[in-house]
Amino acid sequence: LGYVGSTGVGAAAGAGAVLAVGAEEAPPASSAAAAVGAPGRTIEPWGAHQPGVATAQTEVTELVALDLRADVDREALGRLMRLWTGDIEALTAGRGAPGDPAPWLSQPASDLTITVGVGPDACRPGLFGAGPDGFAAVPPMSRDRLQERWSGGDLLVVVAGRDGTTVAHAVRRLVADAAPFARARWRQAGSWNPTGPDGRPQTGRNLFGQVDGSGNPQPGSPLFDSTVWVREGRWAGGSTLVVRRIRMDLDTWDELTRDEQERSVGRALADGAPLTGGMEIDELDLSARSQGRLVVPVDAHARRAHPSLNGGRRMFRKGANYTREVETEQGVEVESGLVFLAYQADLLDQFVPVQRMLDESDQLNEWTTAIGSATFAVLPGFEQGSWLGEQLLA
Ligand code: HEM
Repeated sequence: LGYVGSTGVGAAAGAGAVLAVGAEEAPPASSAAAAVGAPGRTIEPWGAHQPGVATAQTEVTELVALDLRADVDREALGRLMRLWTGDIEALTAGRGAPGDPAPWLSQPASDLTITVGVGPDACRPGLFGAGPDGFAAVPPMSRDRLQERWSGGDLLVVVAGRDGTTVAHAVRRLVADAAPFARARWRQAGSWNPTGPDGRPQTGRNLFGQVDGSGNPQPGSPLFDSTVWVREGRWAGGSTLVVRRIRMDLDTWDELTRDEQERSVGRALADGAPLTGGMEIDELDLSARSQGRLVVPVDAHARRAHPSLNGGRRMFRKGANYTREVETEQGVEVESGLVFLAYQADLLDQFVPVQRMLDESDQLNEWTTAIGSATFAVLPGFEQGSWLGEQLLA
C-alpha cells in the first residue's frame, strides 16, 4: 500500500458498487485486515480532469464555499488560481503548502484530493467568463426549505481524504491563502464509510442505513464519461456540481417497519440489492409485480430518479453524512443529514429534471428536506507545469 495512484480509472475504482471493484484494486488477502486505517494512496493532481471528481469516496469530506471580494478581477483570479495550484500540488503530495506554518499536518498516502469549482456569479465577463452549457443555480423546488447560510458561493473547494486532520489542515491552508481574494461563506463537513470491516472497498451507507451510490455510473466507463464531463468548449474536461444539504429525520424514519423503509427506495437495506432480486450492482426491474402490486412502488425514490423514467438522464452522486448540534428554543438538538453532491456535464439538462421528478413525488420526501443548495462549475484539470483555470483566465 501507499503507492502513487494514477488519476485515471485505477484511482477511481471503488467509487461504485462494491461488487464491481476490480480484483487488482483490492488489497492482497493477507493484508486485508491491515488495510483498515492503513495508509492509502497519494493521488497526483494532474490530468485532463480534476481527480477528486471520479476517485472513490473517502472517509472525510469538507467543502468550503467562498465569496470573491469586490475588487477581484480576472488578473487577481489568475493569481489566486496559481497560488491554489501550488497548494494543491504540495498538499496532495503530503508536503506542507508553500509557507505552511504546520507542514507536519500533511500526510502522504491519505487519498487527499482537492477539487475547485466556480459559482454562477463568478461565471461572467471580467471573471471566468460564461460557464459551461446549462450551468445555473438549481431553480426553487416546492419542498425546499433553503437557508442562506448553506447556499450559494463564488468559489468552492472540496477537500476529501482518509484522515480528518490532514483534510482540515488542507482546508485551512487553502482558505488562508485565498484571504486577499475571497472570504469563506459556508463550510460543510461529513463522513463516509467506503471500506468494509474486511478492508475491502464498499459503496457506503447514509444515515438512514441505506447503501447509497449503487446506481451510479462506474468511473472510467464510457457511460461515466458522457454523464460527467463537459465535452467541448472552454470548459472541456470540467463538470458541474450540485451541493444540496439535506436534513434527514432519523427519528420518524426509525418508526417505519423494515418493509416500509425498503419499499420507499426499492432496494434492500442489508446489501442494497434491488427488491426485484439480484445483487447490489444489478438494475431494478421496474415492471416486476408480486401478488398484483409493483415490487418497486410508483413513488419509490429509485424509481422516480431512475434514468428510464427521466429520458436517460443520469448523474454521478457522492455524499457525506453529517450530524451537528443546533440551538433551538427547546435547547440543543441534534440534526442529521446528507451533504449530497451530484456531478453532471449539463446541470439544467441532467440534474434539474430529475430533481423536479423527486420534488413532485418521492416517498423519501417524507423524511428528507433540502436546507441548502449551491452549484459550481468544476474547473477542467491541469497538467504539471500549468495551473488550474489557465485555459479560462490566461
Ligand atoms: C438512488 C438515497 C437524494 C438521485 C438512491 C438510493 C438511495 C438513495 C438509498 C438507492 C441506491 C443507489 O442507487 O444509490 C437518497 C437519500 C437522499 C437522496 C437518503 C436524501 C437525503 C437524492 C437527490 C437526487 C437523487 C436529491 C437527485 C436530485 C438519485 C438517483 C438514484 C438514487 C439518480 C439512482 C437511481 C437508479 O439509477 O437506480 N438514492 N437519495 N437522490 N438517487 Fe437518491
